[in-house]
Amino acid sequence: MPQIDVCLSPELLHLYQLENTIVVVNDILRATSCMVTALSHGVASIVPIRELDDCLKMREKGYLIAAERDGKMVEGFDLGNSPFSYMEQAVRGKKIALTTTNGTQAIKLSEKADEILVGAFLNKQSIIDYLKTTQKDVLVVCSGWKGKVNLEDTLFAGAVVEGLSDTFEMSNDSALISKVLYRDSKPKMLETVLQCSHVQRLKRLGIEKDIEFCLTENLYNVLPKMQGEELVNIL
Ligand code: MLT
Repeated sequence: MPQIDVCLSPELLHLYQLENTIVVVNDILRATSCMVTALSHGVASIVPIRELDDCLKMREKGYLIAAERDGKMVEGFDLGNSPFSYMEQAVRGKKIALTTTNGTQAIKLSEKADEILVGAFLNKQSIIDYLKTTQKDVLVVCSGWKGKVNLEDTLFAGAVVEGLSDTFEMSNDSALISKVLYRDSKPKMLETVLQCSHVQRLKRLGIEKDIEFCLTENLYNVLPKMQGEELVNIL
């Protein structure tokens, strides 16, 4: 039976074997929710980038460039990190280069994995259905906040662990912790997440409508997968 584990922060990635493993990166508020929304609305591909300067240079290659730092859109870029920005007609068919505080970093740090998928509540079932077909070991990587564990990404990890519990074996307590947290929080998800630290940051920035949207389960049937440097929908 394949194993599923949860890495609660990218700072812990050195403890995990990524070879022969499918990594599912999640950053619920809001990077991977954005990526899923973008690919659901006709964006051709997304290039996750770690550094602002490197992302800026992608404009001259014909990319739309998007950047967020500390929850705010970075001045001089075309887009920030609100999923609602990626529903616009202007992004249809475009290639986007994106850098965020945590989510894009976690993707780049997972590069040794056999496959890298991007998950969010928005495409949860698409992720679970695909993982069931592969029967390969899975590591759900939580992007957290600047190396620290956060609530919302851990909840998503637990949702994936729960969804795979009939065909995967949990290999460590982090998978069990996330599963129990999700099981107990499910009936009051928004109320639970409204307590988290990143919601407080977003609220101080007047960014509140993104929060409930990013908690919506199975709104989109997309499967974002890294192919070379680009994230594309493989469904
Ligand atoms: C992140 O990368 O941590 C998030 O995307 C930050 C945000 O968009 O608020």
